Amino acid sequence: MKTKDLLFVVGTRPNFVKIAPICLALKKYPEIGYKIVHTGQHYDELMSDIFFQELDIPAPDFYLNVGSGGHGAQTGRMMEKMEDLCGEHAFSAMVVIGDVNSTMAGALVASKLHLPVVHIESGLRSFNRSMPEEINRIVTDHVSDVLFAPTQLAMRNLEEEGLAERAYFSGDVMYDMMLIGQEIAARNSRIMEELKLQSKSFYLGTLHRPYNVDDPKVLREIFEGFAQLEKPIILAAHPRLSKNLQQFDISIPFNVHLSKPLGYLDFITLQKHALRVITDSGGVQKEAFFVKTPCITLRPETEWVETVEAGANILVKNRTSREIVDAVWQQAAANYERRPYGAGDACRIILEKTAEVLLERVLT
Ligand code: UD1
Ligand code: UDP
Repeated sequence: MKTKDLLFVVGTRPNFVKIAPICLALKKYPEIGYKIVHTGQHYDELMSDIFFQELDIPAPDFYLNVGSGGHGAQTGRMMEKMEDLCGEHAFSAMVVIGDVNSTMAGALVASKLHLPVVHIESGLRSFNRSMPEEINRIVTDHVSDVLFAPTQLAMRNLEEEGLAERAYFSGDVMYDMMLIGQEIAARNSRIMEELKLQSKSFYLGTLHRPYNVDDPKVLREIFEGFAQLEKPIILAAHPRLSKNLQQFDISIPFNVHLSKPLGYLDFITLQKHALRVITDSGGVQKEAFFVKTPCITLRPETEWVETVEAGANILVKNRTSREIVDAVWQQAAANYERRPYGAGDACRIILEKTAEVLLERVLT
């Protein structure tokens, strides 16, 4: 017997990567009905549509078209529209993923409507409350009814905040995605040939954190660091970075190959073949670990501490050009044997537990 539909909330690039393996896993559980709402937080073709096409994510059932804006305006628009949606349709629960504004907006709306909330990628903490994501994580975890933690450390964080009773260890859905994605990418991605790259002869970069790209001084310093590196850097530019590079009139060093945002399959192919990944992304740090490429993270701290403990990820606290170059050139002695992100069955665990706890069904 089919139950009422779950409502999955997505809105940004990392949400799309995280929902993709869940939708694939859902094919094995036809008794779990679901709908997808896309808030429209990310809307460019290369930040949104391409992920639905490449990763076979069903087209969203609802598109809220909220677009960009300040945190209050953007979150408010999402909340208003999601509240209307929940008034018009009867869902069994709301499922939110990650730590973006779309995640928190969905969780707040559902909790106030007494609709059960499931949070996937729960319990992560950077302990830096100046990051909007940290606020989104704390709020979302505390208003959610079922919490799925990607790591044991995330489980401990939840325990320390009094949330242990609602928390389950699932492992990380991005690890599930990477296992599937690598096979598809090996068949379909031609990016190495297109960019005429040899394996391990280049660096791959991404940047989008406001404290790196919205401050002209910091951004200039980072590009001065890039200019001193001896190898080409493929920099897959988030629109926030592209806009600020233009606005601040920063000249691009000759070894930096600025590209548009890449599709997931091309991006993970480059991650695997890069000599180092240089990033301030959350997900990219972990993916570099999955493909065993050393990572340099241009952030003072990380919520993915297991990558640092394994010696696979170096944090560059102050993002000076000197610190960046030193970190990139540091010899990595990483241990990739530990598996802190689960066994590649996070999606199965999440769906079976959600069905058991919320839909009162046991799936086999
Ligand atoms: C958001 C998330 C961040 C996540 C990142 C993933 C929040 C608070 N931030 O940051 O946690 O790591 O997504 O990529 O939720 N823009 C476009 N086209 C788009 C999307 C954005 O041009 O399709 C530009 C707009 O100028 C916009 C800016 O990028 O103002 C920032 O977009 P926004 O979604 O507010 O934040 P991100 O930096 O993308
Ligand atoms: N990604 C991508 N193309 C790119 C840059 C990143 O497909 O040009 C993917 C990457 O593989 C990862 C996800 O986007 O799965 C990470 O998203 P992002 O860095 O935007 O957000 P964060 O993880 O920091 O929230």
